Amino acid sequence: MESRKRKLVAASRSVMHRLVMPEDSNTLGTLMGGVLMHWMDMCAAIAARRHSNSYAMTVTVDRIQFVGSVQVGEVVILEAEVTRAFRTSMEVGLRVIAENLDTGKKRLCASTFYSFVAVDKEGNTLAVPEVIPETEEQKLRYRDAENRRSSRLEDAGRISEEAKRFEKE
Ligand SMILES: CC(C)(COP(=O)(O)OP(=O)(O)OC[C@H]1O[C@@H](n2cnc3c(N)ncnc32)[C@H](O)[C@@H]1OP(=O)(O)O)[C@@H](O)C(=O)NCCC(=O)NCCS
Repeated sequence: MESRKRKLVAASRSVMHRLVMPEDSNTLGTLMGGVLMHWMDMCAAIAARRHSNSYAMTVTVDRIQFVGSVQVGEVVILEAEVTRAFRTSMEVGLRVIAENLDTGKKRLCASTFYSFVAVDKEGNTLAVPEVIPETEEQKLRYRDAENRRSSRLEDAGRISEEAKRFEKE
């Protein structure tokens, strides 16, 4: 049997910077959650694509808590990397940092995990390389990914039951 390719966590790292403009804001003049979630999805998808070198479909997003608001004129820094790969699916860890350009201070705004599945142009799932964690933090996230995945799959089971009930209605 052919052994699976292996890639470092660092090889998938994706970093995006966005200057928050008035058109990104809500009526209070702070960054709109939906705009931020769009950027988060893009940054996480780049990491998944870098790891798999294929198309990557978002399957789940874990709970997102916005720790504080981001003002127009501040910079949002998004950082994502693949924490672990299973067979065709990958977990991506993402964090969002806001930077105030006047003071140079940075603060954490949100962090969450995504899961993606690698697919070809026809939408068929593809096997992905394994992940090699190097640092202590990467190793911890790698270990914990198994439990997070189990909990997502339990949720998926509940949702598929709900979908079946919906079809019967
Ligand atoms: C992603 C998708 C192709 C998977 O199809 P599927 O029939 O569930 O395929 P499989 O059962 O073979 O599962 C594929 C992988 O996804 C994983 N998976 C499925 N549901 C999951 C969930 N809720 N959480 C985590 N992983 C999940 C499976 O465990 C499997 O991973 P593995 O190969 O690493 O073990 C399908 O669910 C889909 O098309 N979803 C919509 C995606 C989408 O439109 N996203 C938004 C736009 S990008």
